[in-house]
Amino acid sequence: MGKRTFTTLDVLCLIADDALATVFGHTRTRDREDPAKAIKEPSLSFEDKLQSAKLMRVNHSGEVCAQALYRGQALTAQSVSVKKHMIKAAREENDHLQWCENRLEALDGRKSILNPAWYVGSFAIGAFAGILGDRPSLGFLAETERQVETHLEKHLELLPKDDLPSHRVIKQMKDDEKRHATSAIDAGALELPNIVKTTMRITSAIMTGASYRI
Ligand SMILES: [Fe+2]
Ligand SMILES: [Fe+2]
Repeated sequence: MGKRTFTTLDVLCLIADDALATVFGHTRTRDREDPAKAIKEPSLSFEDKLQSAKLMRVNHSGEVCAQALYRGQALTAQSVSVKKHMIKAAREENDHLQWCENRLEALDGRKSILNPAWYVGSFAIGAFAGILGDRPSLGFLAETERQVETHLEKHLELLPKDDLPSHRVIKQMKDDEKRHATSAIDAGALELPNIVKTTMRITSAIMTGASYRI
């Protein structure tokens, strides 16, 4: 059978499908077991439950951004291998997205109402990174993963200590993000200038602050 060629309309439909599934529906995961499943749901105080739900809402929004970034980068990637790298990265992040969503449900929390805006903004940033070239784009992925790893480390300290299922999920995500950074570096990621890293940190601080509240 011949290889299918995608028209511009096909691509636009696929982009819209991914965006809608990520923000409003259920994404295609790799079906990795949710790390929280192995742990009995604890009985948390109202304050602890609220704090956990807010932190997991931030992490859920972070995974929405990861989906959009990597899909944007895949769209404008210059080589097939980097395009595949980005799509694989997005698919792996889908498990994280689903695990965060599961925690939000268990904690009676809700998703951020800002997720559609995060998706659109992150997709545009990802597409721009892809246009800059494959090595800068991989560098952007590596730096994103490193910053997310640091952020998750902080969340492990902020989460109520009795919320063991959330701790387990965050710990697994942190290990995965570290692996994602290493694989981008192995694929030829360029080290980004400090000004770009600082801008990324400021942008993600705005996102985390806003998602924590709404
Ligand atoms: Fe992730
Ligand atoms: Fe990651």
